[in-house]
Amino acid sequence: MTLEEFYGPSLPALQTAEEHILNLIASSPYAQETEEGLQSVLYCRSRLKSPESMTKKLQKKGFPVTVESALTNVHDAVGVRAVCAFTDDVYALYAWLLQQPSLTVTEVKDYIAFPKSNGYRSLHLILKIDEGPGTGVTAELQIRTIATDCWAALEHQIKYKREVSHAELMEDELKRCADEIASVDLSMQTLRDIIRSDVDVDVMA
Ligand code: GTP
Ligand code: MG
Repeated sequence: MTLEEFYGPSLPALQTAEEHILNLIASSPYAQETEEGLQSVLYCRSRLKSPESMTKKLQKKGFPVTVESALTNVHDAVGVRAVCAFTDDVYALYAWLLQQPSLTVTEVKDYIAFPKSNGYRSLHLILKIDEGPGTGVTAELQIRTIATDCWAALEHQIKYKREVSHAELMEDELKRCADEIASVDLSMQTLRDIIRSDVDVDVMA
């Protein structure tokens, strides 16, 4: 089934909402390169939830499999992921989004401050578009560092290989990798803070 067949006349609003979020993030100061050549938001990815995946999710949650149900009971028909350089950048982008009049943040799940038991770290926001043809559409925005994005991409692949042998060992190892990556993120953040303060000293000198 195609996106057109599933979402019908609602598809353009979903596409507009997806574009709106991508353009908004691209226009933010965090997506621009600074004079020192640093950039907070490295890149974004986005997708509309496929009819198969939406159908599965609605069935799992016991909701009717209709487009109306998909747009009211599920908030991630539109999904955007913003991949940042450092942990501070994740929260800076979040704080900036809270100030934007064209959308409202209706839900926040902070898996960075409170990682999932498997080690997953990411900041999840549900956004509601308040302006233009996408008005009323909700979207899920995941914001995370490039290091934790790397982990999530690999974990996703491993998780869906259900026949995996030594499942428990794999889980332990993945958790260990996630914790090591979090420690690397912390060190990288410290290095960036030092570079920043050196730059400030140069500017003042
Ligand atoms: P659903 O929306 O029903 O999936 O549950 P939820 O609202 O509690 O979802 P949550 O915000 O926890 O996660 C939504 C999305 O985040 C998933 O569809 C994945 O894209 C991503 N995600 C969440 N947990 C994990 C994880 O452990 N590993 C990876 N790789 N991705 C995850
Ligand atoms: Mg969700």
